[in-house]
Amino acid sequence: MRHFLDLHTTDADALRGMIDDARKVKEKRAGKPRGAPDKAQPLKDRMVALIFEKPSTRTRTSFDLGVRQMGGQTMVLTGAEMQLGHGESIADTARVLSRYVDLIMIRTFAEETLIEMADHASVPVINGLTDRTHPCQIMADILTFEEHRGPIAGKRVVWTGDGNNVCASFLHAAGQFGFDFTFAGPEALEPEAEAIAFARSKGVDVTIERDAETAVRGADLVVSDTWLSMHDDASARDRRHNLLKPYQVNEALMQAAGEQALFMHCLPAHRGEEVTDAVMDGPQSVVFDEAENRVHAQKAVMKWCLGAE
Ligand code: CP
Ligand code: NVA
Repeated sequence: MRHFLDLHTTDADALRGMIDDARKVKEKRAGKPRGAPDKAQPLKDRMVALIFEKPSTRTRTSFDLGVRQMGGQTMVLTGAEMQLGHGESIADTARVLSRYVDLIMIRTFAEETLIEMADHASVPVINGLTDRTHPCQIMADILTFEEHRGPIAGKRVVWTGDGNNVCASFLHAAGQFGFDFTFAGPEALEPEAEAIAFARSKGVDVTIERDAETAVRGADLVVSDTWLSMHDDASARDRRHNLLKPYQVNEALMQAAGEQALFMHCLPAHRGEEVTDAVMDGPQSVVFDEAENRVHAQKAVMKWCLGAE
């Protein structure tokens, strides 16, 4: 069974293959209207469940669009309208859904929910974000970086701000795709030790830096994300904002990085907080390419899961 649960638990060659496939899949669609089917229909007659226990704009629409372009159909479900977590076990939900659909994508809170779904489903399960990781986002980000700058291997990525779920997947990617990673943020919000250890175990450099300007100097890519994630306690907002203020990505920081540096953000962005308008809309920003590339990268992920060519 080919589940796509995380970047560190998926074979590095398979990940490389998916990025290369995503690029081809994207090239073949160039100029086509969004609703037009792909020439190849690898998901013909396939049904895909897209389950959301948290809000989503990009993940929801990009998966739905990708499935349809590849000839499949979707059921988009929210946790609230399912029995999920309202008495029925995740294991039984997984067994039932496996009788109806060919593929399950789930966005959830606890990683355990995702793992339990995968353990008991007889169809592939894809991680559409948990409190701990967001692997589909980083697949789109690798595709985006390589479109603009060529191979990411050997480059240096600098994360500024909260060492959250997206940051953890970036660390996993550093190990799997072979690039160095610097975290610039406060000690209280450092990325989890396991993700750092994974990257280091693959031989790449992981640096922890408190000063944002020092960290970004000469970077190939500067990345940021919201200071309060969906799973974070909203009452911690002021404390986190105070801690994270020195890590805002603004014009001065991008200037310190240098003009070779790209800027990425998984979105949604809180303009004026972790990133300014000038950077979001500036020449180094590739944030909307990232959003588009969710479609292409996830199509390659789904094809891989289903063993479809
Ligand atoms: N980046 C991302 O996953 O966006 P959504 O929360 O809108 O899906
Ligand atoms: N870190 C953010 C990412 C949103 C796509 C969150 O989990 O809310």
